[in-house]
Amino acid sequence: MTVTDTTPPASPDAGTVEIERTGQHHDIAVLTLRRERKLNALSTHLESVLLDALRSQEVRTSRAVVVTGVPRAFSAGADTGELREMTPETIAEYYRSSGAVYESFAALPQPTVAALSGYCLGGGLELALAADIRVADPDTVFGLPEVGIGILPSSGGVTRLVREVGPARTRDLVLRGRRFGAREAYAWGLIGEIAEGGSVREKAVEIAAELAGQPRLAVSVAKQVITAATDAPREAALLLEQLAYAALNRSG
Ligand code: COA
Repeated sequence: MTVTDTTPPASPDAGTVEIERTGQHHDIAVLTLRRERKLNALSTHLESVLLDALRSQEVRTSRAVVVTGVPRAFSAGADTGELREMTPETIAEYYRSSGAVYESFAALPQPTVAALSGYCLGGGLELALAADIRVADPDTVFGLPEVGIGILPSSGGVTRLVREVGPARTRDLVLRGRRFGAREAYAWGLIGEIAEGGSVREKAVEIAAELAGQPRLAVSVAKQVITAATDAPREAALLLEQLAYAALNRSG
């Protein structure tokens, strides 16, 4: 099934998000970004369609979600044509509308896997960082080029990256904006696995199937506790773990 806007797309290159259900029990939702001619650049249109996809019945009733792109690009980042037009006012409004997609994706109750290939730059990497688990094709090209064009990663990218790889590596990647490959990303813990060439989607679905087979409530509560424990004071995080265990203990 394909989710599209009710309004006609601005151009043939506007892009869409394909939604499929897969897996032995048909309980995995796979979302594929399709704006291939623009290397899946995340325009506000594509972000809105992705936001609609996250709210769809197919995703809401799934037990795990995979987000992926096309072989040439998971995504080459925010649409640079649109960025030029942004003012402080439109940016504030943006994060209340289509720009909310990064946080909405991170907040899904079920586990999520990002299957990365080709270019994974800027907002593309920020979207990937909002997934629980990342798996990449060996040739994936990562990078955060924002500072080089006079801005910075601002869709949760800095906030998440610093928690995933620490401040020193974050400075290196954000300030220099240099590109890096799957091997480096794996060595730093930024991705969990490197798939065999051309099989990243299958690998991600395999991981999603494993996650979908876990007790639904336990995996969802554990996901939320991990997120909260990343920022909470130690005592609060420990208490949260204990209370979550107490709540889950009889849930099966
Ligand atoms: N926003 C809008 N359009 C983009 C885009 C982006 N982030 N990234 C690529 N595109 C478009 C190009 O404009 C081009 O469109 P056109 O054919 O209508 O001219 C098409 O996608 C293909 O890109 P092209 O640059 O021709 O491919 P390439 O293989 O030579 O280079 C990149 C690929 C990713 C290195 C290059 O496109 C690039 O640097 N993109 C911008 C990346 C970026 O700065 N992202 C972060 C923004 S904050």
